[in-house]
Amino acid sequence: MKKRAREATRIYHKKLYSDKKLFQKGSSWLEKPNAEIIAVVKNNFIGKKHIKVLDLGAGVGRNAIPIAKIIGKSGGKVTCVDYLDVAIDKLNEYVKEHNVGKFIKGFVSSIEDFIINPNTYDFIVAHSVLTHTRSKEKMVQIIKDIAKGTRKNGIVYIYMITNSREFDSETGKEQDPEAEVEINFKEASALLKDIYKGWTIQALKKIPYEEKYKKRGKVVRWQVDYLLFIAKAGITR
Ligand SMILES: C[S@@+](CC[C@H](N)C(=O)[O-])C[C@H]1O[C@@H](n2cnc3c(N)ncnc32)[C@H](O)[C@@H]1O
Repeated sequence: MKKRAREATRIYHKKLYSDKKLFQKGSSWLEKPNAEIIAVVKNNFIGKKHIKVLDLGAGVGRNAIPIAKIIGKSGGKVTCVDYLDVAIDKLNEYVKEHNVGKFIKGFVSSIEDFIINPNTYDFIVAHSVLTHTRSKEKMVQIIKDIAKGTRKNGIVYIYMITNSREFDSETGKEQDPEAEVEINFKEASALLKDIYKGWTIQALKKIPYEEKYKKRGKVVRWQVDYLLFIAKAGITR
């Protein structure tokens, strides 16, 4: 495992969750939920009874809280997993603030250690977390467990970092992106198509993204191609 990379990810998120409030203007990506995730929920699960959602690397509930507001009324539940205490502590605060306590349960756990029971969830979300795992093999195992954990007609949403690069913001010089799992877009696409054979792939696309942030006292420019993958489990699985 690249210890330095995992440490950098933890420090970045701890600081963000302590400094910025969820759904507040100017709070970077915490400002609003991910539109695609909410669209999946609205298009597939509104009014359906007892929908079970798993949010891996849920953070402070940016997506889980709006999901719970939609599915909670019909008996739906969201399980949130994040390895940071501060994420789950804040999630619990925000959950109370948004009156969705009955519909959300948060667990402090790494996604590597969290057991995804087979055939359990209608919707599994892994937004920007899969490459923060101990190894590529472990990441592949989790992607397979996500597939197995999804019920018939359920949906998987994956948003993962590919083609990760990092530059010194001042000099423009490229440096080690300190990714725990490095994977390029082509390899990740092939992997997902293979694991999700027989599923209906609703989206598989590249979304370029960059962000400047302070790391060990220096501003870095982090540049990636996110891979967005949405697939529906067919009757053949
Ligand atoms: C980029 S944030 C995204 C948070 C959330 N999915 C969202 O969209 O708001 C990634 C989250 O994954 C968590 N995380 C990173 N690696 C993890 C791991 N191996 N196991 C569990 N959580 C992890 C981080 O603490 C962070 O909250």
